[in-house]
Amino acid sequence: MLNVVQAIILAAGKSRRFKTDRTKLIEPICGQPMILYQTKLLDHLGILTTLVVGYQKELVQESVIKEHENSISFIQQFEQKGTGDALKCTRHLWIRDHILIMNGDVPLVTETIIDELYTHHIDSGAPITFVISHDTYQVSEYGRVLKSGLTVRIIEAKNDDRKIQDEMCCINAGIYLFRKDFLIDFIDKIMPNELTGEYYITDLINIASDNNLLVQTVNVPFDRVRGVNTQEELWTAEQIKRAEIIKAWMLEGVRFMAPHNVYIDHSVIIGKGAVIGVGVHLLGKTEIGEYTTVGSFSIIINSIIGNKAIIKSHSVIEDSVFHQESLVGPFAYCHRDTILGSKSVIGAFVESKNSKLGDMTKAKHLSYLGDACIGSMVNIGGGTIIANHDGQDKHKTIINNNAYIGVNSSLVAPLTIEQDAFVAAGSTITENVPTGALAIARSRQINKPEYAYRLKNKKILKNGINSSLLFESPFKASSVSSV
Ligand code: UD1
Ligand code: MG
Repeated sequence: MLNVVQAIILAAGKSRRFKTDRTKLIEPICGQPMILYQTKLLDHLGILTTLVVGYQKELVQESVIKEHENSISFIQQFEQKGTGDALKCTRHLWIRDHILIMNGDVPLVTETIIDELYTHHIDSGAPITFVISHDTYQVSEYGRVLKSGLTVRIIEAKNDDRKIQDEMCCINAGIYLFRKDFLIDFIDKIMPNELTGEYYITDLINIASDNNLLVQTVNVPFDRVRGVNTQEELWTAEQIKRAEIIKAWMLEGVRFMAPHNVYIDHSVIIGKGAVIGVGVHLLGKTEIGEYTTVGSFSIIINSIIGNKAIIKSHSVIEDSVFHQESLVGPFAYCHRDTILGSKSVIGAFVESKNSKLGDMTKAKHLSYLGDACIGSMVNIGGGTIIANHDGQDKHKTIINNNAYIGVNSSLVAPLTIEQDAFVAAGSTITENVPTGALAIARSRQINKPEYAYRLKNKKILKNGINSSLLFESPFKASSVSSV
């Protein structure tokens, strides 16, 4: 196939039915711009590929170049005058004997379909072979394929619905293989459509039949060739793709508690024995280790979670790395390069940003760790806040191995707390703490004997209430009259 076929993807259209004023072709499906499903497929097959671009071409080109660098070329259709016109724009690029044309909005198409199309096309020797399917619901605007004896015609639903009959559920999938010599002879015979003024590539099928030329078709499942023109069709295509991804991970030994409501991007990797809870989102370049549990409603983006880790429910993790057997959440927020050592804990309602925690370090409750480098076996008490921002700049905090930070401490950066140091609960630490030292930075407590009783009685007397209600000190030393 490589030496005789070249591919052209039509990607210049205006995406009007998408109603976003943006080209649909870069809309993500399971985290990947729609157009890349087809460019990557052709790249994988090693087929020379050109994209016809036009509407918002910079956006489409940017996505494609990001993935393929310079291995795919572009040609511009200056005015969007229909699929037939888009094909015409590529005429000077036809260098192979067979030209594979694909609409850019059929992201579910597979290698098997291209193989089948090619084999049938070569075996039959037909000038045109194209992919058809059966849309039994007949809700969408596909071109309908009408076969009668050896003639094949396509009736465009969107402009010609008077002619569409209920029983016409055979649709044109928008994937065609043409012999180059046929295209050269007939491309200029496409005339503008009477209603829209557009040139339709599908007229080539009608033209071939009018000239008694053989037109062949390959029939494939509808779910593989659904076109994406509307938001609803995007949703459908994404559901199919997502189901495929989940099914593939199930085959690798991953357990999904509710496969119908998890969101997994195409680029995610999940280890065997992992358990994925209800409503989980695993997005971007995320890797989940073997036997790791991701609790319900957690969202993990571009992060690596090691083996046997436990992410409890409602945690949000972005651009972070957790080593094996780490324990995170519930309701944890870890982002911007949080690195968590093995058997370490970032617990309930803890936020961590750009912070590294060593092995077996624990921050179990209600803390903020920002721009910190924390060693191993450190205990961060509940309510600890690292004050990393001085109003203008961010500063680093270093906490060395085995240090203990008592609850409700504020650590004002820049700061170093050395190994084995101990910070007393409720301290506001503004200076470095040496190795093994105890730092207490809070006001000293004063206890005023019986003062609480006096305050209560003062209030009772003020309101003129019966003096029998007054509190009596258990210490007898003071009297009510002294208030
Ligand atoms: C097209 C087919 C229809 C088929 C359906 C399958 C035509 C006339 N109709 O309809 O028979 O059933 O696909 O999904 O071809 N494009 C350009 N330049 C243009 C217009 C479109 O490059 O001037 C590109 C679009 O970006 C898109 C592709 O061509 O990727 C198809 O265009 P679209 O408008 O989606 O055609 P459909 O109405 O879906
Ligand atoms: Mg379409």
